[in-house]
Amino acid sequence: MAERIEVQVPDGYPPMCEPVKPENRAENLVIVAASDKYLAAMAESFEKSYPKAIFDMITKPSEKTYTADTVKRLSATLGAPNVTMLVVTTLGNESQFMGCAAFLKAVLTPSNEHPMHIFRPSAFHRGHNFKKLMSWTDREVDEMHKGMNTELLETILEHQQRQREKLMGSQPYVMLGPIWVPNEYRSRGVSSKLISKGFDMARDSRVPLLLSGVFPNAKPAYLHLGFEPLEGYDDLMIWFPQTIARGKVQDGRLVY
Ligand SMILES: CC(C)(COP(=O)(O)OP(=O)(O)OC[C@H]1O[C@@H](n2cnc3c(N)ncnc32)[C@H](O)[C@@H]1OP(=O)(O)O)[C@@H](O)C(=O)NCCC(=O)NCCS
Repeated sequence: MAERIEVQVPDGYPPMCEPVKPENRAENLVIVAASDKYLAAMAESFEKSYPKAIFDMITKPSEKTYTADTVKRLSATLGAPNVTMLVVTTLGNESQFMGCAAFLKAVLTPSNEHPMHIFRPSAFHRGHNFKKLMSWTDREVDEMHKGMNTELLETILEHQQRQREKLMGSQPYVMLGPIWVPNEYRSRGVSSKLISKGFDMARDSRVPLLLSGVFPNAKPAYLHLGFEPLEGYDDLMIWFPQTIARGKVQDGRLVY
């Protein structure tokens, strides 16, 4: 069993992750590409998984429920060229959704735009350009975001993107985020399984795996799995495949 790592978790976040007890480890986990049949479970669990303090800040729950819109927003990620959305299920019952993660490949364009978080409102108009990808009208995009504090969400996710740009410059990487596991399947090794796929992707491309938007409650799990903190970047963590050099932060930049 993993040696327990402990960190301080501020109020408003979910409880800190706990090591998987051998008797609780889920067996027969299978990773598949996300598809339409998982979208409803993904959307519902997303709403319940994220820290209430953060969810309340970016949404206005009293005005409407978000599941249907989240389903629609998530559906765009299924066909997006640089997004790999993976889902965990269990052998023999492949309709059972147990967790998911998005991996984004940083294919840096000449304008050097880093991958956008899939929930960033402006990703519907540029970057992933979900609106064009899905042939949605402006009205449909507005409908999906209705009731959300899109300005605040955009500000938070843009800040994260700027942090990645500052750290990585033009160096390629695979980005991991968001990742979530429904409450009932936590501490069973589900995210370990998902993240191992991210390690494979990083190894295959010989680039680091960068975790973006790290919540304090999840840090012990990431530290245990081999992610390293990055000095000056509280919500970023990095993992280097053994086959590449390990970078270090110098003056805010990752240098090798
Ligand atoms: C964070 C989250 C994705 C973790 O998912 P999970 O499936 O419960 O995690 P796992 O059970 O796979 O644990 C991951 C690994 O970390 C280890 N671990 C977890 N907590 C640990 C701790 N406190 N100390 C040491 N190791 C720990 C586990 O043992 C496991 O490693 P192993 O497979 O080698 O034994 C899940 O708690 C979640 O969805 N939380 C809400 C949303 C969220 O916070 N998302 C992350 C945003 S950054």
